[in-house]
Amino acid sequence: MTAPKLAITDSELSTTAADAVVVGTIQGPDGLVLAGGAEAVDAAFDGGLLDVLGTLGATGKADEVVTLPTFGKLAAPLVVAVGLGKPTAEGVGEEQVRRASGAAARALTGKKRAVTTLSALHLGPAAEGTLLGAYQFTAYKTAAGDAPVARVDLVAPAEGTTKAHRATVKASTAIAEAVADTRDLINTPPNDLYPGSFADRVTALAKGLAGVEVEVLDEKALRKQGFGGILGVGGGSSRPPRLVRVTYRGPKAGKKVALVGKGITFDTGGISIKPAAGMDEMTSDMSGAAAVVATALLAAKLKFPLEVTAWAPLAENMPSGTAYRPGDVLTMYGGKTVEVLNTDAEGRLVLSDAIARACEDGPDYLVETSTLTGAAVVSLGKRTAGVMGSDEFRDRVAALGRAVGEQAWAMPLPEELRADLDSRVADIANVAGHRFGGMLAAGLFLREFVAEGVPWAHVDIAGPAFHSGGAYGYTTRGGTGVPVRTLAALLADIAANG
Ligand code: BES
Ligand code: MN
Ligand code: ZN
Repeated sequence: MTAPKLAITDSELSTTAADAVVVGTIQGPDGLVLAGGAEAVDAAFDGGLLDVLGTLGATGKADEVVTLPTFGKLAAPLVVAVGLGKPTAEGVGEEQVRRASGAAARALTGKKRAVTTLSALHLGPAAEGTLLGAYQFTAYKTAAGDAPVARVDLVAPAEGTTKAHRATVKASTAIAEAVADTRDLINTPPNDLYPGSFADRVTALAKGLAGVEVEVLDEKALRKQGFGGILGVGGGSSRPPRLVRVTYRGPKAGKKVALVGKGITFDTGGISIKPAAGMDEMTSDMSGAAAVVATALLAAKLKFPLEVTAWAPLAENMPSGTAYRPGDVLTMYGGKTVEVLNTDAEGRLVLSDAIARACEDGPDYLVETSTLTGAAVVSLGKRTAGVMGSDEFRDRVAALGRAVGEQAWAMPLPEELRADLDSRVADIANVAGHRFGGMLAAGLFLREFVAEGVPWAHVDIAGPAFHSGGAYGYTTRGGTGVPVRTLAALLADIAANG
């Protein structure tokens, strides 16, 4: 798909030859209010825009889109009024602008050019929301639908220099592209996206990026180096597993950050097979891998002064005559043994291999993200990620997630649950004998493979990685790209503050 082209504008709104002008509406304490930036449009309506919108039933609530013709009052024939919701004490927030911009972008589908005033409130979030909301995945559609809006002019905020505004839009565009790349990988069906083809696509995405190196370990190399978790899980598929490493070394040597993402290109559950209902969503079980790879490439595009290594253990979890089975004992990378009690708890097996390997390089921080447990969805719902790990770093990651509008919440690793993973025969079992605290038990399992002293975080995105309902805000159907923006914010924060 072709993303909208963004431009910063300072031309007179009333004479701009666009197909539509976007204004924001707010759910004020005493009813509908026009958001800042809409003054020129209101003036063209002789101060009557609010009244007209009220007549049309606008309330300003989030995701509301009300369109009205301008009858020649503006050069643009249409005003698109999008709801921002209720303002906070500090006014309209960044996420409100991001979501409203996404809703506007979706409403503008098929149009050639629009001007938005939402960017006068928060420029970067408006750019991001516009690009994310306009995202479409059409690779498998044989009939052409309406294209995303081709061009969106962003009205600049009153404060700040043109140079700073340009840099903001550039960074937001790069972030939105990383999210789109992640969504593309998730949305590609599992018959076309399997470990080998995933690795090829990473190589293609990395091509030409300065400071980036891609290494792909195939099944032979994995065997030679002892990646028993990845090989065990991948053994049931005719399409062999891979371990992809993307390394970005920034211009200035900075902190070393390891990112690890679960890359199960399809999760049937294996011999402990899943029920049929909803199994198709397991096409998204590589969302973590897609996110970490896209984030490492984003770090290169934004030239962060860091060393970022993304690890993507890739395997297809299938039942077959060559599949691993409940009762098997796997020897993981680094030598620890794991008793497999349930082949559907496969994510932690491929991840442990990758985490153990990542730790060998002595990272300053390690973040792992995965669609790891149904229990995460039970406890936090479909839109909030659960964040576990070392106390301070875990809280930092969760707070940054919330700051960029990716809902995230810190969860504990209760010490008493660890004993439930004790194995009869091996060092550890891959599941507990009960279902209580399933998300936390998975976190405790992963902790065993993190080297002593490395600040780490495990982000369970089983809920937010994939959106199966109708679009809202900038969240389209299918892969969401969570937690790319959290990871991007984290890298920026580490680059700035260590
Ligand atoms: N990929 C699933 C987790 C999942 C479930 C992601 C729903 C997204 C939506 C994972 O591999 C899995 O099957 N986990 C099991 C673990 C259990 C066997 C301990 C689960 O959650 O049921
Ligand atoms: Mn599973
Ligand atoms: Zn899985």
